[in-house]
Amino acid sequence: MDAKLVLLPGDGIGPEILAQARRVLDAVGRSFGHQFDMSEHPIGGNAIDEFGDPLPQATIDVCRSCDAILLGAVGGPKWDDPTAKTRPEVGLLRLRQELGLFANLRPIRTFEELIDSSPLKRDVIAGTDILFFRELTGGIYFGDSGRRSHESGEAAYNEMVYSTGEVERIVRLAAQAAMERRGKLTSVDKANVLETSRLWRQVAERVVKDEFPTLKYDVVLVDAMAMHLISRPKDFDVVVTGNMFGDILTDEASMLPGSLGLLPSASIGSGGPGLYEPIHGSAPDIAGQNVANPLATLLATAMLLRHSLSLSAEAAAIEAAVDSVLKQGLRTRDIATGDSSVGTTEMGDAILNALS
Ligand code: NAD
Ligand code: IPM
Ligand code: MN
Repeated sequence: MDAKLVLLPGDGIGPEILAQARRVLDAVGRSFGHQFDMSEHPIGGNAIDEFGDPLPQATIDVCRSCDAILLGAVGGPKWDDPTAKTRPEVGLLRLRQELGLFANLRPIRTFEELIDSSPLKRDVIAGTDILFFRELTGGIYFGDSGRRSHESGEAAYNEMVYSTGEVERIVRLAAQAAMERRGKLTSVDKANVLETSRLWRQVAERVVKDEFPTLKYDVVLVDAMAMHLISRPKDFDVVVTGNMFGDILTDEASMLPGSLGLLPSASIGSGGPGLYEPIHGSAPDIAGQNVANPLATLLATAMLLRHSLSLSAEAAAIEAAVDSVLKQGLRTRDIATGDSSVGTTEMGDAILNALS
């Protein structure tokens, strides 16, 4: 197959982890006989520095015309001035919105070899297998926002809006996925306080009742979910929730496998190219040190091959390589339990070895 892939390294550790993904894609292409045409484009802070825009027009244009997109991460302290004209994160939010990527899939699975890297107890986490559907182009991230004067100085506001259609489409996708898994869907909201959540709950319940009557379905309030997620993670199969709740709960959920550096994600939607990325950020505290864990990005690469290119054997080969290097005992610093650890490129080398 010939596929056109856009790589968006971004900022911080983004370029380091995408470099490993690029090597792995080259190797998979060679051994399975595919031609992956890969090109790199600016997004985020580096794009602000160079073009004054976190999502230059040329980047969005090439993203629209490719088969799939792989992103590192954006952001960093250099661009954090609250009075700045624009921000790296705006580039990523616009990319998601312009491509209509309303569903962000975040699988949370524990690895047997890493159970002891997690701060949580083995018997609580072993066997966890959750698939989060985070709504990605609506809610408080995309509502009206601004500042107004206030007797104490200023007030700032962010509007949170969800429409029937936005809830229907994400719940439908999540429910379909649940039907193909263990048949259980949990919707997470804050319906005891928020009007958006009350609409969310009504719509979700109707979609499930009318279209997926055999699904085991429950609703959990987001504050309680933060607790249930680490006290009884094995009870959850597919979880569907809004943009901000999903963002927060999945960073928390990364402690089930043991590190943010292990969680991949896929953003899909209106049928155009999908966007694949680790769920973590640009990790400025470790950028440039060759210590970042590239596995989240490599697992996101596997998701790209499976979901956007229908290359399941190739995706499975990457996932098997990840299992294999963990079995061999290779650990980047974030998942190391003893004194010894390997760097980002050494982990990439080991994956290439396992693939060949
Ligand atoms: P972060 O996810 O970058 O880092 C949180 C902690 O996890 C840090 O200690 C970091 O070193 C560690 N970590 C993250 N990824 C790791 C990896 N692959 N290997 C080893 N350790 C890893 O979150 P933050 O520090 O709150 O945010 C930093 C910047 O990243 C901010 O500007 C934020 O806006 C941005 N961000 C971007 C994305 C994205 O591009 N998708 C996601 C989240 C945060
Ligand atoms: C993520 C990140 C982003 C988000 C930021 C960088 C805009 O935290 O992908 O999880 O909040 O969606
Ligand atoms: Mn996040």
